[in-house]
Amino acid sequence: MDPTLLLLRWAHILAAIIAVGGLAFARFGLLPAMSEFDAATRDRLHDAIRRRWLPWVIGGITLLLASGLANFLLFNARVKAEGWGGGLWMRQTSYHALFGAKFLLALVIFYFASGLVGRGQGTQWIRNARATWLSVTLGLAVAVVMISGWMRQLHTGPNEMIDGGVRMAGDLDATGDGSPPAADREE
Ligand code: HEM
Repeated sequence: MDPTLLLLRWAHILAAIIAVGGLAFARFGLLPAMSEFDAATRDRLHDAIRRRWLPWVIGGITLLLASGLANFLLFNARVKAEGWGGGLWMRQTSYHALFGAKFLLALVIFYFASGLVGRGQGTQWIRNARATWLSVTLGLAVAVVMISGWMRQLHTGPNEMIDGGVRMAGDLDATGDGSPPAADREE
C-alpha cells in the first residue's frame, strides 16, 4: 500500500464529502429554514454564514485541485511505466475523456460555489436565485462523484485468493506484462 496515494485519497474524498454535504445541507436544510425569517434577518444570516464558510470553500477547492491533479499524474505515470494494455489502456478505457469531462464540471462547480459565498457584483445573479443555482451545483457535484466512481472502477476489482494469500486489486498480474490483473480489467 502506497502511503502517498492513501493520503491523497483521504484528502480528496474528505474534501468531496464536505463539498457535496455542504451543498445538500444548504439547499435542503438552510435555505428553506431561512425563508421563515424576514428579509433583513436573512441578509444578516447570509452575511454571517458567508464570512465563516468562505475559508472552507477556498480550502476545499485548493485541496480538491491539488490532490486530484497529483492523483491523476501519479496514476498516469504508473499506467505508462507498467505498460498497461500494451500502452493502449488509457485509450481503450476512455479514462482521459472521463477525466476531461470531470475536470470541466469541477471547474463549473468551483465557479458557482465561489459565487454563492462571494460578494462581487459579477456573481450577484447567482445569489439572486440561490435555490436554483444551489440545485444546479449539487446536481453537477453528484455527476462528478458518479464519473469519479466510474474512473475508479476501470482499474479496480474484487480481491481474490492466490496461493493462500489475498491478492489486492491493483497488484500486477501473474503474466508480468504490467497490465492490471484479469479480475481488475474491463474486458
Ligand atoms: C467537485 C469536485 C470534485 C469531487 C466532488 C470529486 C470527487 C471524487 C471522488 C468521490 C473520488 C473517489 C472515487 C472513488 O474512489 O470511487 C475522486 C477521485 C478522483 N478525482 Fe475527484 N473530485 C472533484 C474534483 C477533482 C478535480 C478538480 C480533479 C483533478 C484536478 C480530480 C481528480 C480525481 C482523480 C484523478 C481521481 C481518481 C480516479 C481514479 O480512481 O481513477 N477530482 N474524486
